[in-house]
Amino acid sequence: DTKILKVQNINNSSKELDEAAAIIAGGGLVAIPTETVYGLAANAEDEKAVTSIFEAKGRPQDNPLIVHIADLTMLTRVVREVPQNAMKLANKFWPGPLTIILPKSSFIPAVTSAGLDTVAVRFPKHPVAQEIIRRANVPVAAPSANLSGSPSTTSAQHCIHDLMGRVDAIVDGGDCEVGVESTVITLAGETPKLLRPGYVTLEQLREVLGEVLVDKAVTHQPDPNAKVSSPGMKYKHYAPKCKVILVDGTQTQYADYVNSHHTDGEFALCYNEDVPFLRCPSISIGAENNQAEQAVKLFDSLRRLDEEGAQVVYARCPKQSGVGLALYNRLIRAAAFQVVHAASGTEQV
Ligand code: TXA
Ligand code: MG
Repeated sequence: DTKILKVQNINNSSKELDEAAAIIAGGGLVAIPTETVYGLAANAEDEKAVTSIFEAKGRPQDNPLIVHIADLTMLTRVVREVPQNAMKLANKFWPGPLTIILPKSSFIPAVTSAGLDTVAVRFPKHPVAQEIIRRANVPVAAPSANLSGSPSTTSAQHCIHDLMGRVDAIVDGGDCEVGVESTVITLAGETPKLLRPGYVTLEQLREVLGEVLVDKAVTHQPDPNAKVSSPGMKYKHYAPKCKVILVDGTQTQYADYVNSHHTDGEFALCYNEDVPFLRCPSISIGAENNQAEQAVKLFDSLRRLDEEGAQVVYARCPKQSGVGLALYNRLIRAAAFQVVHAASGTEQV
């Protein structure tokens, strides 16, 4: 049985917060809200509890988890060293939607980091997440609280849909305010490298650190034979059931392409401004110049398209700057790396 624990705010829901924290401390599984997406939380130091996260999600064992902390004392427990660059990032972006990969300490079992010598650490900003971690008084391993392969969950309703009966509790803390998963950067190599783009942008990271490399898997289909630095990026991710086709081009080129290609049961996933020009059903992820709004609505829109029974979805291709890089990274995976260039009608992988 999965218990639903409603938490409006941390001041009037002490009982629910204690209950969630006690389940985690006792080795159980709880879906908790964070500012990015919901996380499926367990004690990061408890091998058995972490193993059950992989089982509940149907997640491949070689895909490591993020360890969530609620203060910097916990950071020094889960990592072997805190390099200067980590402190620079922590000062600027924590608590917040940034995950930093660092050398792992022996307190974190191999199952949590999928056998890697590094560990991913994040200090979330969401007060409910922070309060549950504090009360559980352990570092908390949490992947996104979706079934492996489906879009991440940004509301308690999404978690109920995916995880009811599979976890001990779901904390309903409302909708997530960022909507896409955290930015992941590794400081384990010689030069900092972006592994997954998010709400903290590449441009912002470069302002703090100077040179930041970008892992090829951020924008390209990983070579199945190459060694990947971010295991999560090799999986087809964020995939709704419908077939997603990413269409690159101006508004006119996009609308022309969609209008001349769509048939029954096919939808557009677009910006507000595109809607009047489209002759097929559409779902908008927000205003064209508001990438934060688009991030908030992306996963819910992909889930709604499945509910509508969409067979094919023509998604407008985001710009690859700012938060747009995160949207592009998620959508190109949903589209299995197929991009159609509307101007020429050619397809590129
Ligand atoms: O916003 C988020 O990051 C959410 C919330 C719950 O915090 N969590 C999340 O976790 O998105 P997950 O498991 O869905 O994604 C974690 C990503 C994966 O791509 C994984 O491969 C990568 O981080 N990762 C974790 N540990 C790593 C490590 N030691 N080295 C390289 N990549 C790592
Ligand atoms: Mg995930």
